[in-house]
Amino acid sequence: MKLDRLLAKHDSMGRSRARGLIAAGRVRVDGETVRRNDHEVDRFMNVTLDDHAIQKGQRLLHLMLHKPAGVLSATSDPVHRTVIDLIDDPDRQTLHLVGRLDRNTSGLILLTNDGRWSKPLMDPATKVPKVYLVETRDPIPSSAVDAFAAGFHFHTEDLVTLPAELEILGDCLARLTLHEGRYHQIKRMFHRIGNRVEKLHRESIGTITLPPDLAPGGWRILERDEIEGAAARRSSA
Ligand code: URA
Repeated sequence: MKLDRLLAKHDSMGRSRARGLIAAGRVRVDGETVRRNDHEVDRFMNVTLDDHAIQKGQRLLHLMLHKPAGVLSATSDPVHRTVIDLIDDPDRQTLHLVGRLDRNTSGLILLTNDGRWSKPLMDPATKVPKVYLVETRDPIPSSAVDAFAAGFHFHTEDLVTLPAELEILGDCLARLTLHEGRYHQIKRMFHRIGNRVEKLHRESIGTITLPPDLAPGGWRILERDEIEGAAARRSSA
């Protein structure tokens, strides 16, 4: 919203009075005097008029969570426990999820109330890599590496999946890197080679990796370098 509009709504002072106050240098945004009427302000900014609060900036939140299998990737649900239920922060209701996992998948979930940060992270065009550990019912043949790199045609969406990197770690264990997130994508890919996913765990999203000391059900606020690193990776993508 433009600064003059936000101010005009305060005490219904109107736009011309608001503009007069801005021109007089009496309005500050995050502590800095702003003299432009069209200065963009969002709900996270502090706006003051002669040291009186016009808008108290909302707290920005970026966090990671270790989703246990069985918990829903949703913000609310009438029946099942959701990832939001695991977070005991007073502002948890402001959060949205940066991508989802199936109910029986465990691992890294990012949550934020910062749409500008999450939007490019979720945009398929940015192709942010997501790394998963996959346990399968049957042994994974070495030919699967080429098949995952070549992509699979998904009839429902009528598309070919982007090249995915499969690293076979054991008979029935692999690490898979995807650059997109289609519905049940990994389960469908393994189904296409006649196998079945028994366990799925997300290890990382872009530059952010689930730390080994964050137990299932645990969460923590992201460090500044984690937040900025994810943003930097995106802008160079
Ligand atoms: N692919 C799946 O099949 N499930 C997930 O939860 C994530 C990717």
